[in-house]
Amino acid sequence: MAQLSGTIVIATHNAGKLKEIGALLAPYGLNCISAGALGLPEPAETGKTFVENALLKARAASEGSGLPALADDSGLCVEALGGRPGVYTADWAERQWFEGPPGRDWYMAMGKVEGMLAELGPEVDRSCHFACVLAIAWPDGDCAVFEGRANGTLTWPPRGTMGFGYDPVFVPLGYSRTFAEHDPEEKHGISHRADAFAKLVAEQFG
Ligand code: IMP
Repeated sequence: MAQLSGTIVIATHNAGKLKEIGALLAPYGLNCISAGALGLPEPAETGKTFVENALLKARAASEGSGLPALADDSGLCVEALGGRPGVYTADWAERQWFEGPPGRDWYMAMGKVEGMLAELGPEVDRSCHFACVLAIAWPDGDCAVFEGRANGTLTWPPRGTMGFGYDPVFVPLGYSRTFAEHDPEEKHGISHRADAFAKLVAEQFG
C-alpha cells in the first residue's frame, strides 16, 4: 500500500477537524492543508455508509488537488434503532423551519433519539456506538480505509459540558461519566476517532 508523506490534504472545511487531525499527524512529519484552504468544493455526502462517505470526500479532495487526501466520517449508531441515526447523525440535529432559526440543535437531536427509545418501552436496549471511518485517497486512485469504534450506552438526561454533538448522552463502556464529562485529553484516548487513528498509524507508520 502507498505511504503518506510530504503534503497531504485534509478533506474538511471544518477548522476544528483540521486542527485535531493536524495535531494527530504532526509526529509523522506531514504538512497538512485543508480542502477549504485550497478552495476545493465540498462534495455532497450521498453515501449510505460511513465508508462510502469518507471515501467520496477523500477521492474528491485528491482528484481536485493532485495530492494524497485524508477524510473522516463519523456518527452515532443506536442498536435498538437499527443503527440510526448513523450516517444521518448530523442531519438529525438540523432544525426544521418551525423549530427556530436554521442551524443545528444537539439537544433536540438527543431528545429525538431518547423519544424513539422511550417508545420502545422501559426495558429497551440502550447500547450504542460511535463510529469513525478514516479514508486516504492517493492521486493514482489507490485508497485505504480504517474503521474505529467506541462502544457505550445512552443515558438520560444529558450530562456534562465538554465535547460536542451527542457527547452528553454517551457513556463509554467501562465508565460512569459521559463523554461530555471527560476532559478532551481523556476522551481522545478512548474515542472512536482515536481507535481509527491508531489503526491508520500502525499501518502507515508502524
Ligand atoms: P461528520 O463526521 O462531520 O459527518 O459528523 C457526524 C456527526 O456525528 C457530528 O456532527 C456529531 O454530531 C456526531 N459525532 C461524531 N463524533 C462525535 C463525538 O465524538 N462526540 C459526539 N458526537 C459525535
